[in-house]
Amino acid sequence: MKTVYLFANWKMYLDYDESVAMARRLAGETLPAGTVSAVFPSALSFSAVAEELRKSQVAIGAQNVYWVERGGYTGEVSAQMYKSAGATYALVGHSERRHLFHETNREARQKMEALIALGIAPVLCVGETATEKKDGQTEEVLEAQLRAAYTGIVWPAGMPLIIAYEPVWAVGSGEPCRPEEADRLSGLIIKAVGVLLKGATPAVLYGGSVRAENVAGYVSSPAISGVLVAGAATKFDTWKKILAASGVS
Ligand code: PGA
Repeated sequence: MKTVYLFANWKMYLDYDESVAMARRLAGETLPAGTVSAVFPSALSFSAVAEELRKSQVAIGAQNVYWVERGGYTGEVSAQMYKSAGATYALVGHSERRHLFHETNREARQKMEALIALGIAPVLCVGETATEKKDGQTEEVLEAQLRAAYTGIVWPAGMPLIIAYEPVWAVGSGEPCRPEEADRLSGLIIKAVGVLLKGATPAVLYGGSVRAENVAGYVSSPAISGVLVAGAATKFDTWKKILAASGVS
């Protein structure tokens, strides 16, 4: 039976008090059998959320990291700092980082390298824009993002290898990708990473307008190993419904 990852990216939706309150409620929940869950709070709330979740089944990850350990980089938070605050995972190359903040494949690679050196599992986000999809470039874009991230990397034994397929047009739009199409592209991602990392098999999560009503269609798809959710993960009730609808037992 596959492990199902249920990851909640809180983006910039929850302030400090709201994040702590949400973490406190989540800490009391029992996850469905066969699932692994993590939340990705803001840098501001990270330590307080980590403290709330310390004895729970829910792990914590960073939304973004900087690769240099420490120094004069005003406004940045390093992977090392997140490590010291208890991060298990970190998102890398989220579409909002790539498109709103102009992050490149090269920067995503630098973040990946810093994270794996520290033992934090990167969750690489890949996905095509609406225009790239319309122009038939989806496969090409995904392969370029994967090549930039993984070429020449020796994946550390025991580190989870997780990729989130998040079509940019589906993120926050209320227009999810059809599960059959997400499954097809996840299969392609698995194949491409298998070549780049010499036989390794990644867990591919789907992200983009996931809701309680559609989550089962993704987690039951053969090539999809979970979901990365933002909007519907920032309210306790809607997230709880997603958790309940994702049980593999
Ligand atoms: P959404 O965002 O669930 O609000 O569509 C997903 C994401 O950006 O990870």
